[in-house]
Amino acid sequence: MAPASVALLLTLLGFLAAAGQIAERATPDPRPQSRTGLIYGSLALDTARAPHWGGSRKWSSSHSGIYETGSAVHGGKPQHDKYAGDAACLSCHQDQSNSYVHTAHHLTSQPANKDSILGSFRDGSNVLMIADPATASDDPGLYFKMEAKDNGFYQTAVAGWPGQLKRRSERIDVVVGSGVRGQSYLYWHGDQLYELPVSYWSDGSRWINSPGYKNRTMNFSRAAIPRCLECHATYIEPRSLDPLTNHYVKASLELGISCERCHGLGADHVSLHRTKASAPAGSTGEAILNPGKFSRDRQVDLCALCHNGIRSQELAPAFSFVPGKPLDNYLQPNEGDIATHPDVHGNQVGLLEKSRCYLSSPKMSCSTCHDVHQPERPAAAYSNRCLTCHQVESCGMSKTMGQKIADNCIDCHMPVEPTNAIISETAGQVMRPKMRNHWIKVYP
Ligand code: HEC
Ligand code: HEC
Ligand code: HEC
Ligand code: HEC
Ligand code: HEC
Ligand code: HEC
Ligand code: HEC
Repeated sequence: MAPASVALLLTLLGFLAAAGQIAERATPDPRPQSRTGLIYGSLALDTARAPHWGGSRKWSSSHSGIYETGSAVHGGKPQHDKYAGDAACLSCHQDQSNSYVHTAHHLTSQPANKDSILGSFRDGSNVLMIADPATASDDPGLYFKMEAKDNGFYQTAVAGWPGQLKRRSERIDVVVGSGVRGQSYLYWHGDQLYELPVSYWSDGSRWINSPGYKNRTMNFSRAAIPRCLECHATYIEPRSLDPLTNHYVKASLELGISCERCHGLGADHVSLHRTKASAPAGSTGEAILNPGKFSRDRQVDLCALCHNGIRSQELAPAFSFVPGKPLDNYLQPNEGDIATHPDVHGNQVGLLEKSRCYLSSPKMSCSTCHDVHQPERPAAAYSNRCLTCHQVESCGMSKTMGQKIADNCIDCHMPVEPTNAIISETAGQVMRPKMRNHWIKVYP
């Protein structure tokens, strides 16, 4: 983005003129130019192409006209009027519901409060110092202060030189991320939803620059687009079909991933069963979707809506995907990416699909190992899943290591690896999340 448009953007947002200057005076990035271009080429509003924690999303630069096909397939706007909500399911499906509230899916977005925000507001640990204004010379100083006030929790950027400090403060309204790796925060400005510049990093329990934000900038202008909430929330109604919009019907926001993201809208199912005196013997769940009854490909498509980094271009509006339908009608795979190595970040589907286990087992799906109604178990505990198809003896290592390999097939055949995507740069330090590689094979 050209310097002029950055300045314009910030002015439009009512931001102090000094901020534009600060953004432009950022210290030169020490890394090679090509890489800087790739990672930071697009500032501010261009969320779509920015590096990110969860999905290596590479969107096509052109979004125009892409809804035509999608609308034809899905019959237009996403439906939400038959939404029942998790509390309704709880009354009849306690097995699934009681454990579900502890899962990362349920907790992946929450209203901001002292329990949901994991970062610290205590003096001494509530400042993210980027460049101390007290010692700033040509370049302005910059730090962020996280403050708990009577009416909420705030991020305040303080920038400039001693005696000429400028501030901008915004309230944390929405928390994104259960905190397995970290959290980002969103704020409302009228009917617009934006990302905040400071995120929380669980490893070390500290505040960091939000992923993809250029170090030494105080950027409050990055839009939270519908796709972001499509992966991290149950529903929000955008005010337009533009995939890059951040204007929403505020009251429509449903946080957390609800049962109905995977089971389809449930109001009919609920009223059907409520009117029955008791469930007749042998009754099934009418008017509800059970992914367990989908073909393997449709089961994996459901997870791929959010767990397949290589899917790129949206063919239909956010929140219009219906479980059980082919994902290809909804998101177009990026041909260029398929041929290359998938990234370990957020693409469990692409990696598992490369495994011989998966290619040679027509029924294998994500549910072979994961019960999404339960919180994640320690990695080694999944070894018994391997042993539903393999014998300890089929592993060459059993000759030297004996039965004890049965306790952990995982770390050798599904190692944890750092992602290729740089996710946050804070004062010269780069943080990469580590992910479990879902390509099951023999690693050197
Ligand atoms: C008033 C009770 C009731 C409520 C509320 C209810 N269900 Fe059910 N549900 C049933 C009964 C009864 C069955 C059939 C027997 C069974 O599988 O337990 C069923 C079956 C199901 C099935 C299996 C369907 C199949 O084809 O195998 C799913 C999935 C399901 N419900 C999900 C939900 C979800 C999601 C909600 C919340 C939106 C919900 N239910 C709310 C009573 C209820
Ligand atoms: C991330 C997707 C996802 C979410 C969220 C989800 N489920 Fe499921 N559900 C599945 C899948 C996949 C299956 C089939 C495989 C299995 O049983 O694990 C399933 C199966 C079921 C079944 C049928 C179980 C059986 O024995 O046949 C019920 C009932 C159910 N889910 C209820 C719920 C309820 C209630 C919630 C919310 C508290 C919920 N699910 C949330 C994906 C999901
Ligand atoms: C609507 C988007 C969405 C769908 C559909 C979805 N997931 Fe997820 N999943 C997420 C997000 C977002 C996270 C990260 C949550 C967090 O930690 O904030 C996640 C996390 C997970 C985790 C890690 C849980 C943990 O405790 O760290 C597993 C395992 C998982 N998903 C499996 C599945 C499977 C299997 C399916 C298909 C049945 C599925 N997901 C469908 C969005 C989704
Ligand atoms: C394509 C789906 C997708 C989109 C779009 C997406 N995420 Fe994610 N995100 C995930 C998944 C899945 C994970 C869990 C890690 C993984 O498997 O990659 C995750 C992880 C995260 C985490 C770390 C969660 C934790 O508990 O460790 C944060 C924070 C996060 N995303 C924020 C965002 C924000 C903010 C946006 C939008 C600006 C966004 N994500 C867009 C799918 C997505
Ligand atoms: C649903 C059944 C199933 C499950 C579950 C399963 N596998 Fe496999 N696996 C297979 C099949 C089938 C093959 C291919 C055998 C062949 O082609 O000779 C295979 C192949 C392999 C290979 C050889 C891969 C290669 O590229 O040469 C390894 C290693 C392996 N599995 C380890 C594991 C581990 C570890 C787990 C648990 C994390 C696991 N498998 C889970 C069915 C499964
Ligand atoms: C052969 C077993 C197996 C299968 C099949 C499998 N997973 Fe996993 N998955 C694991 C193990 C083991 C972990 C690590 C759990 C831990 O660290 O506690 C994991 C972790 C995850 C995580 C958390 C991210 C991370 O790196 O810790 C997500 C998200 C996930 N799986 C999604 C999926 C999806 C989506 C599918 C289907 C495409 C799938 N998994 C299929 C075994 C499996
Ligand atoms: C210490 C690391 C380690 C552990 C633990 C381990 N493996 Fe292996 N596995 C290997 C290596 C290395 C090879 C390839 C060399 C060989 O076969 O001698 C291999 C080979 C295999 C193969 C055969 C691949 C082929 O077709 O050649 C299978 C299947 C397999 N392992 C499954 C398992 C299962 C299941 C477990 C858990 C019970 C497990 N492994 C535990 C390292 C390990």
